[in-house]
Amino acid sequence: MRILMASAEASPFAKTGGLADVTSSLSKALADRGHEVAIVIPKYLMIDRNGFRSEPIDIPLLTRIGGEEQTGWIHRGTLPGSDCQVYFVTNDHYFNRNGLYQENGKDYPDNLERFVFFCRGVLELIRSEEFVPDILHCHDWQTTLLPAYLESNYEAIHQSTQSMKTVFTTHNIAFQGFFPRDQFETTGLPWTLFTPDGVEYYGDMNLMKAGLVYSDAVTTVSERYASEIMTPEYGCGLESVLLSVKDRVHGILNGVDYDLWNPETDSQIDSNYSLKDLSGKRRCKAALQKKVGLPEKADVPLLGSVGRFDRQKGLDLVADIMENLLLRGEGQFVILGAGDPEIEKQFQRLQESFPERVRVRTGIDEELAHQIQAGVDMFLMPSRFEPCGLAQLYSLKYGTVPIVRLTGGLADTIRDFNDAQKDGFGFVFNKADSKELLKAVERAISVFRDKTAWESLMKRGMAQDFSWDVSAERYEALYTQLMQED
Ligand code: ADP
Ligand code: GLC
Repeated sequence: MRILMASAEASPFAKTGGLADVTSSLSKALADRGHEVAIVIPKYLMIDRNGFRSEPIDIPLLTRIGGEEQTGWIHRGTLPGSDCQVYFVTNDHYFNRNGLYQENGKDYPDNLERFVFFCRGVLELIRSEEFVPDILHCHDWQTTLLPAYLESNYEAIHQSTQSMKTVFTTHNIAFQGFFPRDQFETTGLPWTLFTPDGVEYYGDMNLMKAGLVYSDAVTTVSERYASEIMTPEYGCGLESVLLSVKDRVHGILNGVDYDLWNPETDSQIDSNYSLKDLSGKRRCKAALQKKVGLPEKADVPLLGSVGRFDRQKGLDLVADIMENLLLRGEGQFVILGAGDPEIEKQFQRLQESFPERVRVRTGIDEELAHQIQAGVDMFLMPSRFEPCGLAQLYSLKYGTVPIVRLTGGLADTIRDFNDAQKDGFGFVFNKADSKELLKAVERAISVFRDKTAWESLMKRGMAQDFSWDVSAERYEALYTQLMQED
């Protein structure tokens, strides 16, 4: 099969979160199963800055957006560690910026135009016949205009795309691509699509809806989240739309690329280690404490978090319980994240009050993310909602015990510790409040003091397999089924 992944992010080129990891690791997994897979993303400034090479190919882009002529090219490169081609849609005006979607916590005001240009670039790539896919797999709202353009037969897309099927994966129903009605013409879509069963949403435009209603199949990234989003509590207003396309919605759990996230081979951590020999993990803890400037104490539980500073992640709950624990002299904390400046300030204040016990690092730092996964004892992920979550899966592999809330993919992947039955490999709590989180952390700390129990808990986690094997097969089955439909 020929599969084209259209996404706003792909690791290692451009990443703000798990979407980037999934775009690339799913592509690799499908390519390993014998499919021809290519990725297409915008060419952001950071891609050049980070030294990734790509060559322009002869596909000029020329389109009118908002009354202005916009031009660009398609560039081509390869995904490191695979044979997958990566296509980059270039346009200096839209993509030569410091951020992917925003700067200083503020979305770019022309995000709609930027992703209109991107989607039209993807269509040109297909039309040029450089890569004509059987399956066009679109990720998140930035790419949902693709099924909408195909629905509207945008500028008579080439014959060869007639049999092409579209899959839309929503990685997070909270980010919907919501724009005012008066920007609808920017999309170039006919007004016939601006209806309640199209992209119209309470009078304005909701691009997520385009993905849900115009794709041949919809997936999201865990089974539990697939049913959660059909409820008012988690559906972010789209629950009834989701219910109306229920038969086309599939929950397929994300996998992990263990070529990149594996303490046995990871070149970004201080010492490699494995289930059989955990001594390297102790060295990683000491190295992390040293690197961030915390006292090197093996017996003090070191708790960490790597994630977007966003209400979703429940980091305000973490800040609440840290104060409580720190006042009692419990634990050390390393927090890495970027996003909401208020959350950042909360952690900065804790660092100022408890400099011997708290380190906060802001910004995107891939190397430090790996070092935290390897170096901490416990990983905090008390998300209010979590479509899948990759960070807790990375923790397991690194012998770091995840403390998570019972929601979405966290609930589907982490089994609560049960001392009596010698079962479970994390600590799971139910309600999104700091008291419940505190209880889970206290439970974890008391097990941590029993070295034997802790080590077997770590090892049970390390033995879990969340590779792509099963999930890539599920995507493959879905694609196959779609191709058999007329
Ligand atoms: P989400 O996609 O909701 O942000 P996931 O757990 O699926 O959550 O994926 C988060 C990914 O982003 C992980 O690979 C994590 O290591 C990475 N990440 C998040 N914040 C940072 C950061 N500040 N620096 C480096 N990596 C980060
Ligand atoms: C989103 C979700 C996260 C998921 C990731 C990759 O950002 O918040 O839970 O793991 O996408 O699918």
